[in-house]
Amino acid sequence: MASPDQEGPVLTLRAATHDDIPALVALGRAVVPPTYGPIDAAYAQRMIDEWWTPEVFARSMRTNSHRVVEAGGEVLAVSSFGRLSRSYRAFSHVTDPHGSGDREVMWKLYVHPDHHGRGIGSRMLAEVESQVEGDELWLEVVDGNEQAFGFYRSHGFAEQERVTDGEWPDDVWMMKVLR
Ligand SMILES: CC(C)(COP(=O)(O)OP(=O)(O)OC[C@H]1O[C@@H](n2cnc3c(N)ncnc32)[C@H](O)[C@@H]1OP(=O)(O)O)[C@@H](O)C(=O)NCCC(=O)NCCS
Repeated sequence: MASPDQEGPVLTLRAATHDDIPALVALGRAVVPPTYGPIDAAYAQRMIDEWWTPEVFARSMRTNSHRVVEAGGEVLAVSSFGRLSRSYRAFSHVTDPHGSGDREVMWKLYVHPDHHGRGIGSRMLAEVESQVEGDELWLEVVDGNEQAFGFYRSHGFAEQERVTDGEWPDDVWMMKVLR
């Protein structure tokens, strides 16, 4: 992506590097509270503390593919993509994660709130879809994140299963058949 935007500088979609990590941590602080705060404020804080840290990005970059969109030197959005079997998180609750159905998963798609609705998420999603080797792209959405559900449904994803732990909001797995 290197396209002129009506409202500002050129948007560039590129692979993320370790040099982007501070900007990605800052992006999380901008986008996570308005996304998850209305669902569960403690959960939003936990996400920032546990998953949007320099250490977690550095670890994730070893096994997952990260992309960013930047404009004028500012990181506006991030995606991450990889295989369930290579995740450092445990997914014993997910159906058949390491059998014949190892999932290709988009772990993150986050656009800075000031830049929603400009086509950035759609462009990043298309880029992730182009990286999928099999027929299916999977992702998790937190129960209550209706904007994300609407976005993903409008892009061809359908709900597949719900993961409940009773303490935090449910995760809903969605999947899109690509071919
Ligand atoms: C969800 C998100 C990634 C979408 O990115 P975006 O850049 O704002 O989306 P786009 O501008 O590409 O929108 C593309 C299309 O989705 C549609 N769309 C967006 N939100 C929608 C909704 N709630 N319901 C239906 N369609 C929706 C838009 O109308 C647009 O359609 P069009 O291209 O036909 O006009 C972004 O809003 C975001 O980062 N949200 C907060 C973080 C988050 O929840 N991430 C997902 C975690 S699972």
